[in-house]
Amino acid sequence: MLLRGKKVVIFGIANEKSIAWAIARLFHEQGAELAITYAGEALEKRVRPLSESIDAAAILPCNVASDEEIASVFTALAKIWECVDIIIHAVAFANKEELKGSILSTTREGFATAMDISVYSFLAVMKAAQPMMLGRGGSALTLSFYGSMKVFPSYNVMGLAKAALEASVRYLSEALGHDGIRVNAISAGPIRTLAAAGVNGFHTILNQVELKTPLRRSITQEDVAGAALYLSSNLASGVSGEIHYVDGGYNIIGL
Ligand SMILES: NC(=O)c1ccc[n+]([C@@H]2O[C@H](COP(=O)([O-])OP(=O)(O)OC[C@H]3O[C@@H](n4cnc5c(N)ncnc54)[C@H](O)[C@@H]3O)[C@@H](O)[C@H]2O)c1
Repeated sequence: MLLRGKKVVIFGIANEKSIAWAIARLFHEQGAELAITYAGEALEKRVRPLSESIDAAAILPCNVASDEEIASVFTALAKIWECVDIIIHAVAFANKEELKGSILSTTREGFATAMDISVYSFLAVMKAAQPMMLGRGGSALTLSFYGSMKVFPSYNVMGLAKAALEASVRYLSEALGHDGIRVNAISAGPIRTLAAAGVNGFHTILNQVELKTPLRRSITQEDVAGAALYLSSNLASGVSGEIHYVDGGYNIIGL
């Protein structure tokens, strides 16, 4: 029960394949109280029953492109909780047209959307969460991909967004460290999810990684959830500003 009584807000469950769903289940097993958000009405039908199955204390709509919707999440939570201990940010989005061809076909609008939803939203959520997280030894975690550091086919603007997200982890870590809040990221290997399906030729990335990764297998949502538990719990009380790879070791391979 590493998270007994800890209050956790989760952004990024779309369905039962979502990485955030594996995290939510494990955190529930470890004694956490959960607030689950979903991106809009269309997703409520899927997310509500999942959230109810793990006794979520709150199930709230939140399009992270809207500061008002982010604010209403924490206004609603302040009515039921005195504080928040842990934030899970597992949100990313780019238009499908941006995730094929080369980086040169990136549009100004597509760039802005990817950066807004996949990067700025983490800053916006932490800004809104900060007052409820002060001085509790809290932590925040976001999800990245190695496309931030190396070039993967079709990952394009999302690689740029993940690079900016990883820089945000470092800046947020410094800014929130005064309040005792740790900020980290997991850089996960490729996993078949809704978000991954948007990347043209994703199966090629997955196959290549399976062949070359030291563990010779792709990682699972549960692999990521285990590392998320460590990073979010007091076991990682001295860890902040880290990009922690959960990729079967793929990132250490040269050739
Ligand atoms: N699947 C992979 O191969 C992989 C690898 C490394 C990192 N990641 C990252 O993990 C995170 C979770 O992705 P996933 O693979 O579980 O896929 P997913 O599709 O299940 O999750 C992405 C989530 O982002 C949410 N989202 C998109 N736009 C939003 C908006 N405007 N407001 C609120 N929420 C919004 C979706 O509702 C969804 O819940 C993402 O940041 C993704 O980039 C995924």
